[in-house]
Amino acid sequence: MNSLPSVLITGASSGIGATYADRFAQRGHDLVLVARDRSRLEALAARLRDRYQVAVDVLAADLTQADELAAVAARLRDDTRIGVLINNAGAARSGRFIDQSSESITGIVTLNTLALVQLANAIAPRLAQAGEGAIVNIGSVVGLAPEFAMTVYGATKAFVLFLSQGLSLELAPQGVYVQAVLPAATRTEIWERSGVDINSLEAVMEVAALVDAALAGFDRREPVTIPPLQDGAHWEAMQAARQALLGNIKQDQVAARYLLAAEPAR
Ligand SMILES: NC(=O)c1ccc[n+]([C@@H]2O[C@H](COP(=O)([O-])OP(=O)(O)OC[C@H]3O[C@@H](n4cnc5c(N)ncnc54)[C@H](OP(=O)(O)O)[C@@H]3O)[C@@H](O)[C@H]2O)c1
Repeated sequence: MNSLPSVLITGASSGIGATYADRFAQRGHDLVLVARDRSRLEALAARLRDRYQVAVDVLAADLTQADELAAVAARLRDDTRIGVLINNAGAARSGRFIDQSSESITGIVTLNTLALVQLANAIAPRLAQAGEGAIVNIGSVVGLAPEFAMTVYGATKAFVLFLSQGLSLELAPQGVYVQAVLPAATRTEIWERSGVDINSLEAVMEVAALVDAALAGFDRREPVTIPPLQDGAHWEAMQAARQALLGNIKQDQVAARYLLAAEPAR
């Protein structure tokens, strides 16, 4: 019987999720691997069982389908061995907003935000009750940068950051660690899947380096880990500016700049 908590990883069939699976198995954790492609998950599970002698379950699910999402949520609620959720499954779309179809927007928003928050919601009460455990949400630096021209994707990742920061404030006092991880361009299939030639990018981080840095942040219990950010003081300054702005919001007073004499109606 494994004394370490099991780790459920979404989007474990490739890229960042598959690398997390390798690293947690190496640390001796049993795993539950989630993605749509069952045969890839089974192949990874077999490799990890063989290499690290851990138990690995496969749960094939399309997280944009309500019934399949509900099955993963039920596993998180009911399986008391699971103490860590890696909320990693995600998809990107390149291209202008006005060229994106309603179906494409629904798919990406459902996967990147709705599925992620529902899975966090499924496990959080149990972890809070136990007074331990962790939820890791994979965001993106794109969520900080409307300038990057991936507006819908970036908006979903801004959601992930906000959600993580809020959950961290709520759950840390109850012993539950919540981490947001914000990668920049990382060498995975996401680029090809979203129609971007990875060779057209100026610089790309290797996925092993990204996940090992994210795990260094995890071990330090950082609320937000941004592996490609070279000077952490920039993040601290941004948080300080946000706090200062919040201190300048007065619920009962309109700001002076809006108290000019009313302009005549035209
Ligand atoms: N790579 C980057 O440059 C980068 C940068 C910033 C943030 N991120 C974030 O990192 C996370 C992982 O992406 P990645 O780069 O590792 O890309 P990836 O290799 O394409 O992996 C995406 C994973 O999500 C799974 N997935 C996709 N649609 C799904 C669905 N409907 N239901 C269930 N699983 C689904 C995929 O497996 P199946 O196809 O088998 O379902 C795959 O395992 C994403 O949240 C992404 O936004 C990546």
